[in-house]
Formats: sequence, structure tokens, C-alpha cells
Amino acid sequence: MSQLKVTPIKNFRTEISVPGDKSISHRALMFAGLADGESKVTGFLPSADCLGTLKAMQALGVETEKINPTSMIIRGRNGKLLASGEPLDCGNSGTTMRLMSGILAGQQFNSSLFGDESLNNRPMKRIMEPLTMMGAKILCEGKGKRPPIVIEGKPLEGISYHLPIPSAQLKSCILLAGLQANGKTTVEETIPSRDHTERMLRYMRATIDNDGKNITVHGGQKLNGVNISVPGDFSSAAFWIVAASILPESALRIVNVGLNPTRTGLLNVMMRMGAAIREHIEHNDFEPTGSIRISETEELQGVEIGGNEIPNIIDEIPIIAVAAACAKGQTIIKDAAELRVKESDRLAAVATNLKAFGVPVEETEDGLIIEGGHPIKAAAVKSYGDHRIAMASAILALKADGPSAIENVDCIDTSYPSFTKQLSEISSGNKKLSFALF
Ligand code: S3P
Repeated sequence: MSQLKVTPIKNFRTEISVPGDKSISHRALMFAGLADGESKVTGFLPSADCLGTLKAMQALGVETEKINPTSMIIRGRNGKLLASGEPLDCGNSGTTMRLMSGILAGQQFNSSLFGDESLNNRPMKRIMEPLTMMGAKILCEGKGKRPPIVIEGKPLEGISYHLPIPSAQLKSCILLAGLQANGKTTVEETIPSRDHTERMLRYMRATIDNDGKNITVHGGQKLNGVNISVPGDFSSAAFWIVAASILPESALRIVNVGLNPTRTGLLNVMMRMGAAIREHIEHNDFEPTGSIRISETEELQGVEIGGNEIPNIIDEIPIIAVAAACAKGQTIIKDAAELRVKESDRLAAVATNLKAFGVPVEETEDGLIIEGGHPIKAAAVKSYGDHRIAMASAILALKADGPSAIENVDCIDTSYPSFTKQLSEISSGNKKLSFALF
């Protein structure tokens, strides 16, 4: 079990890029594996979660050819995967398990999927219900409809389904099953969640209709192999955006980062807090991509966060809590109960760690009330096996009054294997800017 020691810094001025987007990397592997013909994927995120999806697709008969750690050729099986001889290990990844279940429900063979201790404790009833309505035979063997999952592949029928929770994993699971079903499948989404699935399926020339509320896919459509260039992960960039905003006289430019508006809610929250941020979209093949600049920020102010903006900041709430801890006044986060069933109970984990750093915080049923602006004290905290808790805690430690320690940081590999290296480069000033940023 590794430990990360973090020494505080005053500020930093630099330009960085971040590794490929996790959500898009998962989808690139799955959809290219289902497509007709070859796809070339570049900018892939070689993290534990995505490498797990790669292994699972290979076990299902998809041939891949590695060009380098972030590029590969994928030979699609035109919708027909092969049975895996072994149960599929989804590791820590809810995206792998939930999206693969939608794919496997419509294949004509049996499969089983399992995860690590954290994933085996996450709810799967949400996917079991609509897939069963479509005619799938799916069994969640864990307590309370939790993994492992056993799927008997069956011919599926299209359904109309109202999403009871705004979840891109659930939406994508149903759309992927719908692509293989008889007739049309409509998912009604009242609060929009990330739309990477819809964008990539369209890019592969599938027809997906969206009237702003209902997303419809017709079964039996072919996906076409394409070149997929994965942009940098906004959720990884989020750690540096907040770091630059809480450390006075910092300046940062992040290049080649995904700027899909269903992901960038953090920018709106940070600007409401008073951060000086500009984004610039430079290209948009299937995902808007560009750069973000963060310039010197006056003291941040506490804000209220909740409602429809939650799905677009769903993975950023731990790092938003860090910004709130450094902002003047109170920040109230509500409507975020989903955080209790992520890789850890993120509301409990954030509250425990903020308290350890000397930040007054109250945990509510669906959120947090954070009293910001108090001095940040050096601390020794746990990651709870959750990559985003580990990284958010490391960023808060940059602002502390002495060195801090984060325990059990191996989990960072699930989404951002180069985080600690980038943190030490930024901290040691190795990557100082040799040109004016603004
Ligand atoms: C993801 C969707 C989100 C997010 C997760 C990745 C995806 O989960 O938290 O990290 O790739 O679709 P939910 O859709 O369950 O909120």
C-alpha cells in the first residue's frame, strides 16, 4: 500500500496536458470492437480501468494491435462477439460493468462479470430492471442486486424507459442493448448526463435521435470503424484547475482537453466562486476539444451547488469541495446522494478528509456544508481506495501549513497513472513557463 507525501507550494505557472479521457477510452474500445472494420484509437488512457475493458473485449474475441501505450488498432467483429471462456474482471470500473452488461445482454451466449471489493458493492438493480424489460436474462448474485452479474444472452425487444436517476452509465447500457434489439429503444432523460455514447455512436454512423429529452436508437444498425482521437480527460484537468485557483499568483494553461459541456460544469462552478477561467474550443470531430486558461484569482467565494448541474460535475465534487475549503464563506452542495454509491461513499470520505485538514464541514444526506477560509492544517489521510479522493486530498495538501501524507494511493492508477509524476513536476517548478501565458 503506497503513500503519497505532499509538500505545500505557494503557486505554480505552467502549461500542461492531461492523459486521455477515461469515459471516451472505454467507449472507444467497446464500440470499435462492435463495429464493422478497423478503428484506430489514439490518445487512449492506459489506466487500470481502461486496460480492464481492453482485456474484456479481447476475451470476447476482439483483435487489437498495440502501436504504443496510447494508440492501437481494433478489429471490429461487426456486432458479433465471441463467448469468453472466463468470467470478465471489471476491476474497479462501474463503466466497464454497466456498459458491457448492455452489450452482452444482446449477444447469443452466456457471460459473467465481477469486480473488486468496491465495484462488487455498487448497485446494479438500475441496469437489471430495464435489461430485464427488454427480455434479457440477467442475475445479480451479490446481496441487494449487486455483482457478480450473470447474463444469458437473448434476443431483445426495444423499450421506452424513463431514467429514474441521471446516469450516463445507465443510459449507455440501455442504448447499447437497444442497438441490438428488435424495434426502437427510447431513453427519457429529464436531467442530461454526459453524452459521449450518443456522440461516438453517431460518429460511427449510427442514427440516434435526441429531441432534448428522449434519446432513441433503432436496433440492427451497423457501426462503422473510424479513427478515434481521444481528448485529454477534463476530470483529470479538474485537479489542476482547482490547484491553480486556490494557490494565489498561479497561472495555468491546459491544452488538448475535452470540453464537452456535459462534463465541464466545474468551470461554471469555479467561475461562480470567482476564478478567472477561459476555455477555447479548437476542434470538434465528435467531441469538443481545446484549451483552458486559469489566471490569477482573487480569493474564491463560497457558493450553492445542486439541481441539474450535479450530473455535469458528478466526478468533480471531491475537488470542488477542496475549492470550497479554500473559499471565503459557506459552500452548500446538495442533490448529490449518488456520490454515496461511487468508488467510495464520496460524501463521507470528503467530509472525513476535510475535517482532518482542519476544515469545518457538515455531511448531509445528499451533500456537504463546508465552512471555507480557515487555515489548512497538514494531515495524514486515507484514500478509501478511491482515486478521486486520493487526488483531491493531494491538491488540498498543497495549501497546508506543512507536509501531508495520503495513504493507499495505488488507486490513482484507475484513472490517472501519471498524476503523482505531474504533481512532483509542478511542485518542483520543473515545468516553469518560458513564455507569457496571458
Ligand atoms: C461515467 C458516468 C458517471 C461517472 C463515471 C463515468 C461514464 O457515472 O461518475 O465516472 O463513463 O458513463 P454515472 O453515469 O453512474 O453517474
